[in-house]
Order: sequence, then structure tokens, then C-alpha cells
Amino acid sequence: MNVDEAKKRIEQLRAEINYHNYRYYVLDSPEISDAEYDRLMRELRGIEEQFPELVTPDSPTQRIGAAPVAAFGVVEHPLPLLSLGNAFSRDELFDWYRRTVKLAGTSGFDFVCEHKIDGLAVALTYVDGRFTTGATRGDGYRGEDITQNLKTIRSVPLSLAGDFPPRFEVRGEVYLPRSAFHRLNQERADQGLPLFANPRNAAAGSVRQLDPRITARRPLDVYIYMLGYAEGRAVPSTHWDRMEYLKGLGFKVNPHNRLLPGIEQVAEYYRTWEEGREGLPYEADGVVVKVNQIELQERLGVVGREPRWAIAYKFPAIQATTRLLDIGISVGRTGTLNPYAILEPVAVGGVTIRQAALHNEDDIRRKDIRIGDTVIVQRAGDVIPEVVGPVVSKRTGGEREFRLLDKLPRNDRGKPVCPRCERGEVVRPEGEVMYYCSNAACPAQAHERIQHFASRGGMDIRGAGEALSALLLREGLVRDVGDLYSLKKEQLADLERMGEKSAANIINAIEQSKGRPLARLIFSLGIRHVGSETAELLAEHFGSLDSLSRASQQELMTVPSIGPKIAESIAAFFQQPENLAIIEKLRQAGVRTSEEREVKALPLAGAEFVITGALKAFTRPEAEARIKELGGTFKENVTRKTTYLVAGADPGGSKLNRARELGIRQITEDEFLELLKA
Ligand code: IVH
Repeated sequence: MNVDEAKKRIEQLRAEINYHNYRYYVLDSPEISDAEYDRLMRELRGIEEQFPELVTPDSPTQRIGAAPVAAFGVVEHPLPLLSLGNAFSRDELFDWYRRTVKLAGTSGFDFVCEHKIDGLAVALTYVDGRFTTGATRGDGYRGEDITQNLKTIRSVPLSLAGDFPPRFEVRGEVYLPRSAFHRLNQERADQGLPLFANPRNAAAGSVRQLDPRITARRPLDVYIYMLGYAEGRAVPSTHWDRMEYLKGLGFKVNPHNRLLPGIEQVAEYYRTWEEGREGLPYEADGVVVKVNQIELQERLGVVGREPRWAIAYKFPAIQATTRLLDIGISVGRTGTLNPYAILEPVAVGGVTIRQAALHNEDDIRRKDIRIGDTVIVQRAGDVIPEVVGPVVSKRTGGEREFRLLDKLPRNDRGKPVCPRCERGEVVRPEGEVMYYCSNAACPAQAHERIQHFASRGGMDIRGAGEALSALLLREGLVRDVGDLYSLKKEQLADLERMGEKSAANIINAIEQSKGRPLARLIFSLGIRHVGSETAELLAEHFGSLDSLSRASQQELMTVPSIGPKIAESIAAFFQQPENLAIIEKLRQAGVRTSEEREVKALPLAGAEFVITGALKAFTRPEAEARIKELGGTFKENVTRKTTYLVAGADPGGSKLNRARELGIRQITEDEFLELLKA
């Protein structure tokens, strides 16, 4: 192939890939299989490797792969990004409407209603049909340049087809779907990291990563909600038509948007979604009501930062008040002492709450929460409820301030110790908000560590749940995760409520877990501050547990996105003799501790399969066995670790949806058979 031929083929491939990308990520309606899509991508990547001078920044191969930056550049917004005034009741909505009619001098206009998604506002600039700059809102006038990060979002078109203005800007909301938000927070909780308070913070945290590869791992999405400016081509004169026009250019616009003729219909739209919002895949905190006619928008103008032509009609928060009876302390996997609220049971949005998160002592003090207070509790979606703050006016004077150290038992030297093991002295490392139990052999920690080790995101040992690990610890059959691998079937079968068969299943599951990828093993060790993303980076960089464990703090810091705090924690972990002993047990048992070549050589190594619907060629157990023989793994449920979802006859909708939501490849039975032949 010569340069000219390469150029031509590259153009064809890019156009084709962009089209299928659009079908999949924007329209949610793919025309080709993922395997075919991959083939196109592979061919493009191959030619671009051969002719690197032909790579352009808008090539679909360039979505990921940009190097981390030291800091974000600044982008001046040619037109400021505004915020919105709020309405909290029907009366306030109608007040806004009456003001608008008065100022407009007419009621002859209509409305566009949209969900107010709780995410992060972005402005995307296109020059000659190419995505050139993506920026955060910042202070409205100047934002941060997050172009590389936004490129990783598949629903952001990199190049446009059709009749676009030579230069224009669109604005929209980048968000993290609810499910991804909960998963991220769960991981952070496991790591003892502060939780994201809401999906907006989580989206902002994901987008404002200096390393775009981290952004790329988070399933962010975007809805475009307005045209900023356009130069060099006339654009439609109503908001609704503009959105239709942008849709035609390939932008993702929320299908729930409605063009409505009157304020009563607006109120009706609000009522529908006030009830229906929990069923949405994203968190919406209200409805945005916009005057449709742009000419009228311009006449109504802006006061301060708030346009008079739009308003955010907010949903009520899911909150309730109740009494804080006491504050309990639980012990986490890394030894963190986690305060939690013990509440007088209260119904919040149809769910009875008895406990709620309190994060840490500083947070409790900052919010001035006292035991005995009447407090406001809040539940968002299906996350752990949290205490928002006290209702100070209800104080009686009998409330008590909480001091974590006062709640703890003391040892004979008078030092506070862990409430669970009553041995480990409690320490608070400088600069950290959490207190820790310093006893490496604390059974509460061991319990949490075994749970974490065996969890789905970890070594995935089915059957090693709460009850079993508590029992094993109590019976002295295990002291740490390393001991799991020397358990004998007979030992398990002797335990209460355990038969031959369940014992055999558990032994089998433990055996299976030996071959998990290195990144999973690193994650499951439960090193403080090392979540699954960091574990993947470490596995990629070091290739084996051995070389990871020998790495100095300096060396660890050369891995992108690993800072001094994480590096210190990892280095400290591998200096502890207890941890080295556990690793030795794992190694002795034959747990995979490196990205072994032989395993890689198997055709399905590293691939995780989920099957939905019936297959013609195999029963499920047969398919499972074939996958395993070829080095792959088989799972019941789609997670973000899933490589392929195989869809047979009558596939289940939830698995398909979940796969789509997470961007997991879906293949047909025929494609699956092809893979097995490989
Ligand atoms: S329109 C001048 N539409 O809400 C109008 N904003 O306080 C400005 N938001 O930061 C925004 N969904 O990021 C608009 N459908 C929607 C929206 C939306 C979420 C956010 C936006 C902005 C904030 C306004």
C-alpha cells in the first residue's frame, strides 16, 4: 500500500467508524456487530501505525492515548456560560411565567422542557467540522481546557458530517450514570477515600483528571442542551429547531426533551418526572424550562448570570427529619474507624432508614451534629443515606457532642483501642481525617479484608460471603486471605449448616480464583488507596507482584496518576512482614502473580464472557467449560470487567441494557463460535 492508497482507505474507514460509533453511542441502535466494528478499528490502527504521518487528532483512534498533562490550560469563553434561577414550587413557576409574559408583552411563545441533569457543564467548540476545544464552565467566563478528556466520551463527535457552521460552540452536561456513580463511591469507600457527595462531583472528578486514561475508564456520557454561538452559517430561530439541527449533525440530545405550548403542560411535564425520576439512568434534580423563540430570549436578556428566559424548576430533595439516637463505630478493611448514625427509624421516599453515613469526625464537627439532635437525613437514589445536618432550632440543651476517642475502650496504658479487637491502639496519621486500628491481626479487619478479597471485583470467590468468613475466622480455620487456599473440603464440610456439596463448591470456587488476572489480585490485597483503576495501572506497569513489591516509592511515582500518598501506602504495604507472609502463601498455593506468557498465549486469555439467551450449539455449562479451556472466564452478570456479552435466542433485556450502558461488546452466537475456533 502506498501513501495515497493509505490516505484513501483511512478516510473510508474513519467515515465508516464514525458512522457506526454514532449509531451505537448516540442513537443507541447499532447496525453492525462489535466484532465487525473492532475489525474496522483494527484495520485503521494498522494503517495508521504504518503511516504515522497520516494520524490526525480527530481520528477515532485518538480518543484515548493522549498523555497526561501537568495542569489544565485556560479557555476564555467567547460567550459567558450562564447559570439558572430556581423555582421550588408551582407558585414560583407561575410567578416566573407571569413576569415573562409581562416583559415579553405577549403570551404568544412556547416552551422547551428538559431534564436538569446533575453533572458538569461543558462547552464544545467545532472548527470546520472538527472538535477542537472542550472546556469546563469555570467561573462562566474562563474555564479549563479538558479537550483530551472529553474526547474519551464516545458520544462526543470528533468530526461532523452535514451542513455545519464553520465555527460554532455547543453546550451540554457531562454526567456519570447512576450505576457508575454508585460503583465508584463503593470503591472509594473500600479504599477509605472520601466519597463523592453527588453525581455532579463524581462527573467533575472524572473529567478533571490530568490523565485522560482515567477519564476513559469511567463511563461518562453527555447530553447537548444548547447552541452557544455559530459563525458563518444561519441557524434555526428556535431552541427546539436548533436542537433538532444539532441532532442531525450527530450530537446526542436528550430524547425526553419536549416542545410544549403552555405553562400548564410545563407543570404536567414536571409532575411526570418528579414521580418518574428514580427510573432514569442519571440523576436529575429538576426540570429546565426554556422559552423556545430565540428572538424573544434575546429580548428578555440576562440579569446578573441568570437568563430571564429560562428557569430551573427543582425537584424536592428526598429528605426527612428524625432523631440521632447515637453514633456507632464500625471497623473497615484498612482499619478505618467509621462513625455511623444510629437513627430513630424514619421513612424517606418510601424506604425505612435506621442508619446513615457520617463519614468522619471532622465532618461531624463541621456540620455541628450532636447526639440527641433532630437531624435531616437524605437519600439519593439507592446510595447509603447520609445525615445532612442538625435542626438547631429543635435543640433542648441535652444534646452531646461526639468525640470518637471518648467512645473507645482503653488499654492498661490508658490509650484508646479499637472497639472490635480491643487490642490495636488507635492512630490518626498526620493529614488524614480517619482514625485507624493499628492491629494488623484485628479480626474485624480480617473479616472485611476477606470479604474484599473474595468480592466480585476482587478474586471473585463465590460462596465466601459474610457468614462463611465470620465462621472461618471464629473457628480459627483462617487468619488471613492466604489461608483460604489451604482449606480442605473436609474442614468445611464439618462446619455448621454446610454439606459435602456446598463445601465442594466453595473449594472449587477458591481453586478457580487462582487464575485471576494480576490487576484483580493487586486490587484484592486491599492496599490502602489502591482501587481497581490503580490496580490496573500497576499491573500494566509492573507485570508481576514480585516487581511491584520490590518497587521503591520513587519508582511507584513514575506510574502515571500515582502520587506520593498512594506510592507511600503501596511501599509500606510491601514492607509489612504480615503482608509478605500472606503473599508467600498465595504464591505457594499457585495463585497467579504475574501476567504469565503461557496464560496470555491461550486465545481467550483475559476475556470475560457473559451469556444471555439460549445458544444453539451448547448448553451453558458446555459453553462455560469451552471458555475456560481457552483461558477465558465466565460470569453470570455483566460488569464493567465483562469483555463480551454473547446474545443467544431470547436474550434478557437487563443484561443487554447493562452491557450497552457500560459500553460492553455484544456478539452473536456465530461470532462467539468464531472466537472459540481461534
Ligand atoms: S441550560 C442559560 N439545560 O444546570 C441556560 N442547563 O444552573 C444555561 N444543566 O450549569 C443552562 N441540565 O450545566 C440547561 N437541560 C439543561 C441542563 C442544564 C443541566 C445545568 C447546567 C448549568 C446549570 C444551570
